[in-house]
Amino acid sequence: MKMKHTFAFALAGFGLALSLGVLTAGPALALGYDKPLEELSSRDIRDAVEADLGSRRAEMTAEEVEELVAEAIDEVRTDLLEAEEAPHRDWSFNGPFGVFDRGALQRGYQVYREVCSACHSLKYVSFRNLAEDGGPEFSHEAVEALAAEFTIVDGPDDYGDMFDRPGKPFDIFPAPYENDNQGRAANGGALPPDLSLIAKAREAGPDYIYALLMGYNKEIPPLFKAQEDLNYNPYFPGRQLAMTFQLNEGIIDYTDGTEATSEQMAQDVSQFLYWAAEPKMEARKALAKPVLIYLLILVVLLYASYKRIWREVDH
Ligand code: HEC
Repeated sequence: MKMKHTFAFALAGFGLALSLGVLTAGPALALGYDKPLEELSSRDIRDAVEADLGSRRAEMTAEEVEELVAEAIDEVRTDLLEAEEAPHRDWSFNGPFGVFDRGALQRGYQVYREVCSACHSLKYVSFRNLAEDGGPEFSHEAVEALAAEFTIVDGPDDYGDMFDRPGKPFDIFPAPYENDNQGRAANGGALPPDLSLIAKAREAGPDYIYALLMGYNKEIPPLFKAQEDLNYNPYFPGRQLAMTFQLNEGIIDYTDGTEATSEQMAQDVSQFLYWAAEPKMEARKALAKPVLIYLLILVVLLYASYKRIWREVDH
């Protein structure tokens, strides 16, 4: 009799523990969606939750189901904040021997000058860099002329006053705003970052810049929490930013006669910004070729001497 009681207690205890465990853990959801996150609506999520619950659905109250749906929606929203990876593009400077396309760099400069420089500084680049080997390689006369288009604040003069003068090749690109606060105030609170190093600071570099500049026409996912004063762009971290689409067809007239399509301008300015961030890329790669040839010869010589030295030794 006693034995029976103990057994019954143990069983009841085990049952209680089991149901407590199930209740506190809640039904674990393993939701599978048959669409990309960007297309999911709350209806799809509700369907997925109900399908996942299956027969357990009958034992749950409406509120419990609501809670699960809300949780699943939150999860999708969080996932939607993650930026999409920028697609790889076929740049002329890819690979160990790739070089810049001079024409693209010169056009890219024009895009920066006529569009981006209204908001973005380029403070680690000076005008004379535009004439250096491995860059846009403008002539020295051209650089003098394009520097003179900018107004530089210089001084103080003998009376202690600052004064304006035309830019010289040794000047750096002047910033569009006097300070960060002015930059923020002009852009709804967001500071346009300096673009000198952006192509190296972002993992996908020029692919990212291109994707970002062209990524504005994507539909806002139904579950994305869009902020009114920001623009949806899946390539920006958080997927929305203060900058609007900048490259309307024909917004500039290329001096070399190339048609200024949005893609063309995005491509040219991305390449230009990559050069700005890595102005010595061509020199670095030019060094790679002789080093590789040298190593190759060294390997052949070493192998030949190894064969010779060990020729008469059993091994
Ligand atoms: C009207 C002002 C304006 C113009 C013109 C403009 N931008 Fe921007 N840009 C911004 C602002 C503001 C941000 C910051 C957005 C944010 O943080 O929400 C930004 C951000 C960016 C970023 C993202 C940087 C990062 O942190 O990853 C890049 C890249 C960029 N701009 C490139 C360009 C290029 C290239 C051009 C020229 C084709 C250009 N922008 C023209 C205002 C501008």
